[in-house]
Amino acid sequence: MSLQNQKHLFKIPEDITYLNIASLSPSFHSVEKAGIDAVLKKNTPHLTKVVDFYNPVIELRKLFAELIDANNHERIATIPSVSYGMANVANNISLKSTDEVIIVDEQFPSNYYVWKKLVDLYGANLKVIKAPDTKIHRGKLWNEEILNAINKNTALVAMGNVHWSNGTLFDLKAIREKTNLHNSLLIIDGSQSIGAFPFSIKEIQPDALICAGYKWLFGPYGSAFAYYGPYFDHGNPIEENWLNRKNSEDFTRLTKYESEYKPMANRYSVGESGSFIYVQMRMAALKQLLVWKPSQIQEYCKQLTQPYAKTLRKLGCYIEDDEYRTHHMFGVELPEQVNIELLKQKFSEQNIYVSFRGNYLRLSCHLYNTKNDFDKLVLCIESVLNS
Ligand SMILES: Cc1ncc(COP(=O)(O)O)c(C=O)c1O
Repeated sequence: MSLQNQKHLFKIPEDITYLNIASLSPSFHSVEKAGIDAVLKKNTPHLTKVVDFYNPVIELRKLFAELIDANNHERIATIPSVSYGMANVANNISLKSTDEVIIVDEQFPSNYYVWKKLVDLYGANLKVIKAPDTKIHRGKLWNEEILNAINKNTALVAMGNVHWSNGTLFDLKAIREKTNLHNSLLIIDGSQSIGAFPFSIKEIQPDALICAGYKWLFGPYGSAFAYYGPYFDHGNPIEENWLNRKNSEDFTRLTKYESEYKPMANRYSVGESGSFIYVQMRMAALKQLLVWKPSQIQEYCKQLTQPYAKTLRKLGCYIEDDEYRTHHMFGVELPEQVNIELLKQKFSEQNIYVSFRGNYLRLSCHLYNTKNDFDKLVLCIESVLNS
């Protein structure tokens, strides 16, 4: 059976239309409870055991591995931010001056600065694939241009599987095939899709997948995840936390310094990754997501938003073709005559929360959104268009 609305699990006030989870997710009951219970445990540190530093975070990594269809949780690192995860990637890449790093236009800054710095360090080239200047089959053409850009000079492609501001969907399977032909790395920023859009490590086999945790993964701000593939197994982490070394579980031997890391991605976890409060909240969030399932969340958002996408197109808005966008998050380019300041004012009066990106609205929704939310949104846009 398909998923029904889950607003009852959230505490979003009745008069608020929240279409901005792509910026920050609300919490739901089990996440809130896990956080509060963990906060209270701080009163009784004598009850915290050595295993509490390890076992919950191992469990968390297993849950994330399941969510992304990876068969080994040792490939998962817990990190505080996307920039941290990307820094660990860049720390293990050296380039020739003829090498190219490919990114797409207007990528999120944490997936831009790191590559700019890397190419500058080696005198290599950053190749930015612009969005085609057309509104006809733009997503399809953009994907083709990315594929065409990958060649023998491509050291690495770093991109999202969905564009973070306009929701264009990129065909990672085709991109992986092309990067494999040229031995180029594929690094994915999954922040705007993992959790709400199905993804399989086994299918795509990226070299790394890095995700912010406070959006579609419903974790607290400061809780991101990384998957690192075999390329990074013997790499250099950006910091040397003791927990990531072999035998760190034996607290009596910590100064018997250990030269070996735990296997695979363990070396890339941030120090204090067992963070008691965060880990409990993140686990509660992932458990619920695994029950809901990203495919079903996507389907719910599709059923909810598709009629409104049609209406908005009829009003003169541009939305990417349905096959080249996601349904949990998409951009709406407003007709030129729309007075953006007036629209912002109307949204504020009506308690409608979205992201504005220039002439674009970024709409993002989840299982707590209803038709009523989109009715209110469309009414506001109509009234500004007619004013
Ligand atoms: C695509 C994308 N990547 C990364 C981030 C967050 O990056 P960081 O965790 O480095 O702050 C965001 C936040 O909006 C995002 O949209």
